Amino acid sequence: MKNFTQHGNTTVFEHCVSVAKFSLLMAQYLEKMFKLKFDKDSLVRAALLHDYFLYDWHDKTVPGHNIHGFTHPRTAMLNADRDFGLNEVEKDIISKHMFPLTIMPPRYRESVLVTLADKWCALCETFKVDVSSYIIYRVNYRIALANGELEAEGQTAEQAL
Ligand SMILES: [Fe+2]
Ligand SMILES: [Fe+2]
Repeated sequence: MKNFTQHGNTTVFEHCVSVAKFSLLMAQYLEKMFKLKFDKDSLVRAALLHDYFLYDWHDKTVPGHNIHGFTHPRTAMLNADRDFGLNEVEKDIISKHMFPLTIMPPRYRESVLVTLADKWCALCETFKVDVSSYIIYRVNYRIALANGELEAEGQTAEQAL
């Protein structure tokens, strides 16, 4: 995934990490504000693997690459299931992440979050708009807090939300 470009100068790997972080950030806020519950393990695993199609989709000389947008969710889901094993939520997240191109709508709320995060990240990466830096910074900050790496600042992970 690090060897293939996704949008702009962003690799597929970097894109998937960003989508995972945005999805997790949205889930944290929705859990806190609306008391919704999310399967965050499945959310992060599937977000990291949602574009696990493993080819250069920019090479249009390869048959089928001209319809990459429609076909890669299923390819990524099958690859990820083969290499890592997926649960039903993870399969839905990956195979529906291009909705509405995939026609069938997301079945789980986790799938909706990844679909939204994917489109937001794709826009930022394509137009080289760096509006995501602050949000990514906040997610990294919370992860560091949760890992106890910022205890010197006297703030708990819960307070940082
Ligand atoms: Fe995708
Ligand atoms: Fe994506």
